[in-house]
Amino acid sequence: MRSSPSLISIFSLFFVAQACSSAKIEWGPCKDGEFNTTLTVQCGTLNVPLDYTSQVSNESLDLEVVKLLAPVQPSQGSIQLNFGGPGVPTRELVVAVGPILQILSGGAYDLIGFDPRGTGKTLPFICTDNDFIKGQMLSEGLRSTLESDTMERRVWERARLDANICRSRGNGNKTGELAGTAFVARDIMSVAEATGEDGLLRYWGFSYGTTLGATLVAMFPDKVDKVILDGVQNAHEYYHAHADYEEWTDSDPIFSYFFESCLTAPPGRCALAALNKTASELERDAWTFIESVRAAPIPAGTTLIDAATFKGYILGQLKYTGGWPAFSSVLATLLYGSRGEAVRVLEAIVEEAEANGELGIDGFDIQTSLWAIHCGDRTVRLDSWEAQEADGVFKRLYNTSRLVGDIVAPISASCAQWPWRAKETYKGDFQVATRKPVLVASNTRDSHTPLRSAKNLTAGFEGSGLLEVNATGHATLNAPSVCGYLATVGYWLNGTLPEKGSVCEAPHPYAEYGWDNVLEEVTGSPALVVEKRALNRRGWF
Ligand SMILES: *[C@@H]1O[C@H](CO)[C@@H](O)[C@H](O)[C@H]1NC(C)=O
Ligand SMILES: *[C@@H]1O[C@H](CO)[C@@H](O)[C@H](O)[C@H]1NC(C)=O
Ligand SMILES: *[C@@H]1O[C@H](CO)[C@@H](O)[C@H](O)[C@H]1NC(C)=O
Ligand SMILES: *[C@@H]1O[C@H](CO)[C@@H](O)[C@H](O)[C@H]1NC(C)=O
Ligand SMILES: *[C@@H]1O[C@H](CO)[C@@H](O)[C@H](O)[C@H]1NC(C)=O
Ligand SMILES: *[C@@H]1O[C@H](CO)[C@@H](O)[C@H](O)[C@H]1NC(C)=O
Ligand SMILES: *[C@@H]1O[C@H](CO)[C@@H](O)[C@H](O)[C@H]1NC(C)=O
Ligand SMILES: *[C@@H]1O[C@H](CO)[C@@H](O)[C@H](O)[C@H]1NC(C)=O
Repeated sequence: MRSSPSLISIFSLFFVAQACSSAKIEWGPCKDGEFNTTLTVQCGTLNVPLDYTSQVSNESLDLEVVKLLAPVQPSQGSIQLNFGGPGVPTRELVVAVGPILQILSGGAYDLIGFDPRGTGKTLPFICTDNDFIKGQMLSEGLRSTLESDTMERRVWERARLDANICRSRGNGNKTGELAGTAFVARDIMSVAEATGEDGLLRYWGFSYGTTLGATLVAMFPDKVDKVILDGVQNAHEYYHAHADYEEWTDSDPIFSYFFESCLTAPPGRCALAALNKTASELERDAWTFIESVRAAPIPAGTTLIDAATFKGYILGQLKYTGGWPAFSSVLATLLYGSRGEAVRVLEAIVEEAEANGELGIDGFDIQTSLWAIHCGDRTVRLDSWEAQEADGVFKRLYNTSRLVGDIVAPISASCAQWPWRAKETYKGDFQVATRKPVLVASNTRDSHTPLRSAKNLTAGFEGSGLLEVNATGHATLNAPSVCGYLATVGYWLNGTLPEKGSVCEAPHPYAEYGWDNVLEEVTGSPALVVEKRALNRRGWF
């Protein structure tokens, strides 16, 4: 059944209208040195209600908003961004990912972002100030639940402990409850109204950013101008299931596909292809290696490489095929090289992760923000391990993915025992008629957010379109193709949706091909040529 506008959105309009009827963002220079970019950025602040549901409180919150100006001015308006997690701050990524997004929006739109509640500069979620406890949470909480016979129960109890530690500090003055997705959606509408444009919603969300986007669209269907949701999470499960099962349904098949497509890779692009082994032999040997580090973890630099860390590394590698040639070389050494060579390769991986801030305290903050936001948004809890339901959740995750099930089980354990709920959650069914059509995007093979979740969301939003790119990776942003480019630009500039049932072709996953190649193929228009360094090849999120 479609209901539009829902009761919830009538209330929401009321609250937003009350809260910031006339506030406008004053744009000015950003703080010196905050963003290292040659692109034109501006910063501004918007004061929004701290608690949108309170009729009495006048407490407020300053959102620090950054704007990357469109190369073509005057712009056609601004698009707000979110890059997922939840827990990932947005501001820095607006500037870092902005250049490619400018290209994909035809250079016509300003790009805007603020750190969502519970992250970065906005109500940062603090679980604990104690570094020793932080270290314990990271090293004990994020284990493979299949590491030993006693680990499932241990992870479960650790999650309860961590949740309670987070409660006293992180929700001591109730900020944890104010960081839910529904409030972030209201913040986004507040910003849309304060840009001095038409007050309508232009939004581009990736990964968890699609759940935020789906919530926005469902809460404010009559405000939708243009919305792209790329790399789709199942929003129903995000809120109402004990785990994000569907998210991992294609992880194992894509791990297999990594080996299968290696054997048809262009010459020299996949080191494993030179070994005269079948794809299933290669995959079997990879599993032998994973089980070997489960039994005997390998010290590398500052980190112990065990099944959980190594599987986490693989999961990261499956998100972006641009890294597959290097990943295949790493595996060739780990599976078939000497012990000394293997250790050196692992040390290099750890060093790079450290240099990128992926190990240590940054990772901790993102992890605890994820708990605060995702677990606070969850509507279901489990009373006890003995209820056997917890065991059932873990088993179903293992069943969904051998690669990922045991390393994502700890997040479910946290959410199942999370001590508070977000002050407001969207409770509807994501079935709405929108003012203008939404564009949902997915690769055919996404190890993190499968195509079926994109189809699920498309089915709920009346008139929405689906951009399917026959490529591999997390979100179409991570899988450059001419067809995907034309569809994306066509939507932002003309509102055009891909033809129903159409599928975009993309290059071989091991091909040497980036957005720079796409541009070379499609355009000579100077308006679309953005800085060269913008086109550095790398994967995002
Ligand atoms: C700023 O970016 C440039 C180009 O990427 C780099 O060479 C430089 O080291 C950076 N400066 C700082 C302060 O990070
Ligand atoms: C907020 O409300 C309190 C009491 O409810 C009042 O004392 C205070 O002046 C108000 N602050 C503002 C900025 O309106
Ligand atoms: C209360 O919230 C503020 C953010 O508004 C934060 O800076 C402060 O540390 C919090 N206090 C506690 C005890 O958590
Ligand atoms: C490749 O493997 C097959 C079957 O294992 C074997 O018959 C063949 O001789 C091998 N070729 C080379 C070049 O090693
Ligand atoms: C695991 O998958 C099998 C086959 O798909 C199914 O029969 C079984 O019920 C599943 N178990 C759980 C716990 O989901
Ligand atoms: C979407 O996913 C939810 C949760 O798995 C499911 O209940 C619902 O039936 C799905 N909808 C469609 C149209 O597939
Ligand atoms: C997607 O690409 C694969 C090869 O990479 C091809 O086998 C398959 O037919 C394509 N599917 C569609 C729907 O075009
Ligand atoms: C937008 O529509 C115009 C007119 O139909 C067309 O010429 C143009 O190529 C379209 N632009 C894109 C990017 O699809």
